[in-house]
Amino acid sequence: MLLAQLSDCHVSIPGEEFSDLYHSADRLREAIRHVNEGVNRPDLVVLTGDLINAARRDEYELLREIVKDFEMPYYLMPGNHDHCALLREIFSDHDYLPREGKLHYVIDGWPLKLICLDTNIHGKPQGELGAAQLDWLEAELAGEKSRNCLIFMHHPPFRTGLTSMDNMGLLDMEAFIEVISRHDHIERVLSGHLHRAIQRLSHGTLIQVCPSTSHQVELSLGDNNSLATVFEPPEYLLHYWTEADGLVTHSEFVKDYGVAWRLAIGGIGETY
Ligand SMILES: [Fe+2]
Ligand SMILES: [Fe+2]
Repeated sequence: MLLAQLSDCHVSIPGEEFSDLYHSADRLREAIRHVNEGVNRPDLVVLTGDLINAARRDEYELLREIVKDFEMPYYLMPGNHDHCALLREIFSDHDYLPREGKLHYVIDGWPLKLICLDTNIHGKPQGELGAAQLDWLEAELAGEKSRNCLIFMHHPPFRTGLTSMDNMGLLDMEAFIEVISRHDHIERVLSGHLHRAIQRLSHGTLIQVCPSTSHQVELSLGDNNSLATVFEPPEYLLHYWTEADGLVTHSEFVKDYGVAWRLAIGGIGETY
């Protein structure tokens, strides 16, 4: 199984202030082209939230126009910039999205059980799962006996040292960690929100943060009051699973940097 994780696309309407800065809609189009036409074509795609930028209907309509170009199944998740009711309405044909309540769901049919969570708190930058969703997660984990599980959630459940972003973090991360610490068949926790590649081990489970397809956040650790975005390149993650080796994650730039040189297969022994 090859799964692409795209995150924090922040699609906005061309010509508006934010859009002119990042061209986030065009960057998502480029990312989709790369996913479709690259040498590592995934079986499915999960978009881990902040799909659009300002929680507006016209942004979702533009997003819908853009994501129809995916040539493989793709799944949408909300982040703090999303508007869950509009997402549900404009993607009403996406049957995996629950009709009411939190937008959490399971993607089945793969060698791993894929569990997608909803950390959105309407109108707030922080995230929260809530007791009901944590109970649902506990039941989904406990009920899965034959496969390992992958958990997707927009807000990562750990503090990173990026203080300004941590202040917009997951409010009930301790409760989430308590749940996952009870299970030893969680292959990985995969999140977004921070617009950087970051990892942390927690109770034996690796938690990873996916960079943005639009813009990255400045690496500025420790106590400070600033928050800046930088023009580091758009990226996404490719999660490659095999029975023999489990899940291995590669980060991929959207831009093609070209091949510097290539050795013919079988030539390594002769060269070195
Ligand atoms: Fe974001
Ligand atoms: Fe976010």
